[in-house]
Amino acid sequence: MSNIGSYEERLRGFDWSIGEKELGYKKGDKINIGWYCSDRVCQMGKASKLALVWENHEGHVKKFTYNDIRQLSNTFASLLCGLGLKPGERVCIFMDKVPELYISFLGILKMGGIAQPLFSAFGDESLHTRLSNAETAAILTQKKHVAKVRKIREQLPQLKHIIVVDSEGSPLKEREVAFDMERVPRVDDWKAYESTAETPSVLHYTSGTTGQPKGAQHVHYSLIAQYLTTKWVLDVKDEDIYWCTADPGWVTGTSYGIIGPWANGVTQVVLDAGFGAEKWYAFVERHKVTVWYSAPTAIRLLMKEGKEPVAKYDMSSLRHLCSVGEPLNAEAVIWSKEAFGLPFHDTFWQTETGSIVITNYPGMPIKPGSMGKPFPGITATVVNPKTFEPINNPGTVGLIALRPGWPSMFRTYWKNEETYRSKFKNGWYICGDRASIDADGYFWFVGRDDDVINTGGHLVGPFEIESALLEHQAVAESAAIGKPDPVNMEVVKAFVALKPGFAPSDDLDLEIMNFIRKKLSPLAMPQEIEFVKSLPKTRSGKIMRRLLRAQEWGEPIGDVSTLENE
Ligand code: WT7
Repeated sequence: MSNIGSYEERLRGFDWSIGEKELGYKKGDKINIGWYCSDRVCQMGKASKLALVWENHEGHVKKFTYNDIRQLSNTFASLLCGLGLKPGERVCIFMDKVPELYISFLGILKMGGIAQPLFSAFGDESLHTRLSNAETAAILTQKKHVAKVRKIREQLPQLKHIIVVDSEGSPLKEREVAFDMERVPRVDDWKAYESTAETPSVLHYTSGTTGQPKGAQHVHYSLIAQYLTTKWVLDVKDEDIYWCTADPGWVTGTSYGIIGPWANGVTQVVLDAGFGAEKWYAFVERHKVTVWYSAPTAIRLLMKEGKEPVAKYDMSSLRHLCSVGEPLNAEAVIWSKEAFGLPFHDTFWQTETGSIVITNYPGMPIKPGSMGKPFPGITATVVNPKTFEPINNPGTVGLIALRPGWPSMFRTYWKNEETYRSKFKNGWYICGDRASIDADGYFWFVGRDDDVINTGGHLVGPFEIESALLEHQAVAESAAIGKPDPVNMEVVKAFVALKPGFAPSDDLDLEIMNFIRKKLSPLAMPQEIEFVKSLPKTRSGKIMRRLLRAQEWGEPIGDVSTLENE
């Protein structure tokens, strides 16, 4: 049985103050996520309980208790203060999934900084875009990634400090700091910054259709929703071993890979290694994982390997499975029931929402292929795309809309209030996704309402790819779209018109792909490049991505005359 009561019971009389009370928070109190995720858990009698069990690709294991993460995050906070960093300054974490990533995240919050996690596979241009927009003051990284930071440092006047957490054996340059958390003396006593509900906490960059990525800015009060959704949706209990497969470079990896589980005082396991079906099953068996939060692309990869590998391992520890990031197809739910005896529960949310907003609540009958129902305290509907009025007709597709005001809603896009405001219409926050609601109140995802590409659960902005393509000497014009892919749902496809003097060839194809992989990331790299003479444009000169996409997906193109006039 879940520890939380039925969905209907929870809906009745729901109030976010339930979360506040459980955390011992009252309106107007100080609230610091870093403190809640470590000091408070220790005070609740769990100082010697394991907070993190980490394993890398070589099978090397490290274990940290709640007292360890309390002291080590203090040590990071003290380092940052010692360097002269001030509350409110942005501190980037640019690391693989090493323990230092998870622990420094708490340390940054404890000194009042705004944590800015970035995916370590980002190339120098992706990194530059985000550090420059956030005017980041310091970056914590590993020696294997420091070259990318060095390459762009001169273009980032605000970036005062580069901190390398594993610099042993590699000489550092000027204005670079070596900090090995396991070797420096631990700081046992540290007074966490006295943040209040609306103090900024985390800045997560996310891609939109137009323009460069935007920084969704969160506040310490988000904790209330992250804590409660982890408890009620992921259903974690004291004795659970929880595994979230997401990288904290993306919001799932922070809301549910750091804040949620640690605020609940559970033991979490982290595998800092790539995907592999048997590798994952062996990990579940070795650590007796009970609650598993993953993504549809990973599940489809497991499905590809079939059920035989599952049978080789003891998966009986598993109790509850959840998924996020892309549509979870009905086949995947059915397969997981057959393979693990448990269905994956779909959860829907976004970088902007900060926590799960629509979900298959534990114990609620699952309709495979549906995202479930709104979390208690979330008012969700679908609205007409023109009037933004709720559609009260079951099965009719509209835009997913949420009534603003839940604790973890983003408070703005960093230095981009205008785009932030444009997300609100008729009193609703518009997610940018299309869905319908059936007669029982279940939400069914249809697709995104923009050109953003969702590859393996990661959003990639076409504009960022197109801008990078134009920097290649052979490229005159370009368009990036998502093309269907059986595992990743979508992969990037680029259409490229070459400059005079350049001719299409396999070599050029590979060269351009690598160019993007290095500058942006492996996710943004086009899997296919189609060389074209020119690209379809509107009268005002905007490239008609929607037309290219419709052709690629074999969808009706519809009336292009409106497009042409845009
Ligand atoms: C977009 C948000 C928040 C976790 C990771 C993604 C898509 C997310 C689902 C789902 C269908 C989903 C939407 C959404 N998405 N969850 N369960 N079913 N689509 O965060 O990078 O901000 O992406 O991911 O399109 O808007 P994100």
